[in-house]
Amino acid sequence: MPNTKSDKSVGPADWTLIAKLSELNAQRPLLAVTLNERKYVLFQNENGELGLIGRHCPHRGADLFYGRLEDNGIRCPFHGWHFDRSGQCVEQPAEPEGSEMFKAIKVPMVELKVEGDNIFALAQ
Ligand code: FES
Repeated sequence: MPNTKSDKSVGPADWTLIAKLSELNAQRPLLAVTLNERKYVLFQNENGELGLIGRHCPHRGADLFYGRLEDNGIRCPFHGWHFDRSGQCVEQPAEPEGSEMFKAIKVPMVELKVEGDNIFALAQ
């Protein structure tokens, strides 16, 4: 069962504190986050950049919380669709070579900002 973070509204108008940088596990920097009753995964890519994207894969709904962090994104644990931190699908391994269907697939993403140890999401 993932450690799910809940909404913690603080600070300026539309920004919501969702987690602390220090909460991200160095081995697997990924947290399940609920924001305005919507489910997301917060992750840090290999470049140290954060992403907050929809938690459920648009293919068959697999939980991206259990995905693999690789190539600066999350790979779905079911059929391997790969998403970057903007929520854009960047690869579909089972599609025929040359297919560009992935370009039309995107999961929701939420803008983030970091102040000190605090990670804020732009509430929608
Ligand atoms: S459910 Fe995610 S790739 Fe199929």
